[in-house]
Amino acid sequence: MSNKVLVAYASKSGSTREAAEAVGRVLQESGLEVEVYPVAQIKNVDPYQAVIIGSAVRVGRLLPEALKFAEKHAGELAHKKTAYFTVCMTMHEDTPKNRETAALT
Ligand SMILES: Cc1cc2nc3c(=O)[nH]c(=O)nc-3n(C[C@H](O)[C@H](O)[C@H](O)COP(=O)(O)O)c2cc1C
Repeated sequence: MSNKVLVAYASKSGSTREAAEAVGRVLQESGLEVEVYPVAQIKNVDPYQAVIIGSAVRVGRLLPEALKFAEKHAGELAHKKTAYFTVCMTMHEDTPKNRETAALT
């Protein structure tokens, strides 16, 4: 099994891309082999031992391409370590209520 980690992101204006790149840098600095790509560029998740998916939030929803990616690869992802993050204005202030709202997205 490869040790590579994939950070896959869906971004409209660039903030989620920057967050994905930052996550990738931190993981790389901890010694992992990491690749960071927009979800639309990823055809196959087999090469990765772990997958992190990030999406911007628009009008209370994840971007459709992020959902499509997660649905398309759900079978493979079920057997890998996975993590998810969102980038949204709701979390401009880190409060329990805002966390709850963001988690419902
Ligand atoms: C049209 C539009 C709708 C948005 N809707 C929400 C929303 O429902 N909830 C929220 O928390 N943030 C919302 N935002 C803020 C974005 O999630 C935020 O700007 C995020 O950083 C965008 O990520 P991106 O730069 O990767 O596209 C919205 C932004 C835009 C432009």
